[in-house]
Amino acid sequence: MARKTNVGLIGAAFMGRAHSNGYLDVGYYFDVPQPVLHTVCDVNQSAAEALAKQYGWQHTESSWEKLVVRDDIDLIDICTSNKSHMPIAVAAAQNGKHIICEKPIAMSAAEAKTMYEAAEEAGVRHMTAFNYRRVPSILLAKKMIDEGKIGKIYHFNAVYYQDWLVDPHFPFVWRHDVKEGGSGAHGDMNAHTVDLARFLVGEIAAVCAAQDTFIKERRTPDGHMAKVTVDDALYFMAKFQNGALGNFMATRFAHGRKNFLRLEIFGSEGSLVFNLERLNELDYFSRADAPDTQGFRNIVVTESAHPYLNLWWPPGHIIGWEHTFIHEIGDLLRAIDNGQGVKADFYDGYRCQQVLDAAWESSLNNKWMAIPEK
Ligand SMILES: NC(=O)c1ccc[n+]([C@@H]2O[C@H](COP(=O)([O-])OP(=O)(O)OC[C@H]3O[C@@H](n4cnc5c(N)ncnc54)[C@H](O)[C@@H]3O)[C@@H](O)[C@H]2O)c1
Repeated sequence: MARKTNVGLIGAAFMGRAHSNGYLDVGYYFDVPQPVLHTVCDVNQSAAEALAKQYGWQHTESSWEKLVVRDDIDLIDICTSNKSHMPIAVAAAQNGKHIICEKPIAMSAAEAKTMYEAAEEAGVRHMTAFNYRRVPSILLAKKMIDEGKIGKIYHFNAVYYQDWLVDPHFPFVWRHDVKEGGSGAHGDMNAHTVDLARFLVGEIAAVCAAQDTFIKERRTPDGHMAKVTVDDALYFMAKFQNGALGNFMATRFAHGRKNFLRLEIFGSEGSLVFNLERLNELDYFSRADAPDTQGFRNIVVTESAHPYLNLWWPPGHIIGWEHTFIHEIGDLLRAIDNGQGVKADFYDGYRCQQVLDAAWESSLNNKWMAIPEK
């Protein structure tokens, strides 16, 4: 087995914590060399120091430019706001580092393509952190779809609701600034559901979208009012290359919905329903069942035969959101170890970004937009 992987993590806040937890736990459950929590970097030095103290990172740094050129770093983990993903990833690739990058991968498909090409040219492993691909129920849904259990897919409907921006007093943060985030609810939340759509159903051919910013200004932490330049909600219809119709709804204005991601997939032979807030379950309807007892059955996805579950607990002993990051990091470290590719990679990040860009443009121009073939 290869030597241990020295990790340099950039961005020491929400996702920095989720990934740190993944690195700490992964060696207990995956047969991979335990990664070294080498250096955590953040422009906010005190955030880096706090994360280092809490999770045991050995060193701190405030400049990603210094981190990516170090010889003793093997893997760069990008957990910063979206604007910095592309420059960090390209520099990391050029310095021969493996890379994992949070979603949305970039500010635009053009940036994402640059990242993909840089990583491929460098021959490093690259991963886009679409962690919901690593929910066991989602992988079970994928297996059932591939086995034809729901037949030809007619509909893929995805809603992703949160409610933290309904409060008009919620302050202005980077997520409200198009120059830092690229978009709002759209890139943040539709990035996940577009990736799941591509993973489960196939490539999207065209989209037609509408967006709005309900609260136009918010107060910054230093007290002045700043214009919100991203969407609070963006909805779009989609046509898939295979003929399925799709519906995607992302909003941060859904009172009572905290992180409510629900997929409904209807096919010629049955249906599948997934809800992230009940991520250990998958609902399945089969047309093949006898009509008098037909109905949705609820599969508790905790058997050791289910994806990833052999790593965890006996049936019925559920897992949670943080496990998706452990799975993601485990798969990435295995790929680094054996030199093989790992999905979702930067190509998937790029293809997702093409759909996001087209939907954004459609919402501004009020017309259907085609997604490039490649
Ligand atoms: N996979 C998921 O479920 C999920 C969930 C939330 C966020 N995200 C993504 O993760 C990324 C980070 O989101 P977050 O919620 O952790 O944001 P955050 O605001 O909580 O943290 C971002 C951190 O990055 C630091 N930072 C920003 N620019 C930097 C730079 N140039 N150099 C060094 N440090 C820098 C900030 O100081 C901050 O500490 C975003 O791309 C976001 O879309 C993914």
